[in-house]
Amino acid sequence: MHVDATEKKWIYISSIMTVIMVGLLTFYAIGDNIRPPSNGETIDSTRLHLSDEFNEDNLGVKTNDDGSVSVTMVAARYGFYPQRIEVPANTPIKFRIASFDVLHGIHVPFTNLSTMVVPGYISEVNTEFPTSGEYPMFCNEYCGLGHDHMWSKLTVVDAAGGDQ
Ligand code: CUA
Repeated sequence: MHVDATEKKWIYISSIMTVIMVGLLTFYAIGDNIRPPSNGETIDSTRLHLSDEFNEDNLGVKTNDDGSVSVTMVAARYGFYPQRIEVPANTPIKFRIASFDVLHGIHVPFTNLSTMVVPGYISEVNTEFPTSGEYPMFCNEYCGLGHDHMWSKLTVVDAAGGDQ
């Protein structure tokens, strides 16, 4: 079969471009620890208030025995609960989030805290914030008329200065 020289050249160029692009994606995915959410735990979203983990009294920030932090949150139209979250910097943090109603997303820009919150599933994200400060946290899945107002603040405090 005859393949024109120019054609051949373009086959090589497009193959190389594909390899470079897949390579870059892989490099950044591994380097920045970006991966799809893999937590397949299910929960009855209509009965969150009756569950052990996601009932109102159990929500919020907890420090574990090993010094790591767990944050339990509920996403519901139109807010994240509890509304004020304060966590220490440079500490491993496990976020566990469940939706009370429809599909939401949780996103804190420039961090890996970005996941869909699908009703019926528990979303889990492990992260660590290197610098203290206030971070916006917002919903990035359209969830209804109040979607644009569904956001709150995450405060990261210096671990040494805080009382956690
Ligand atoms: Cu919740 Cu958009």
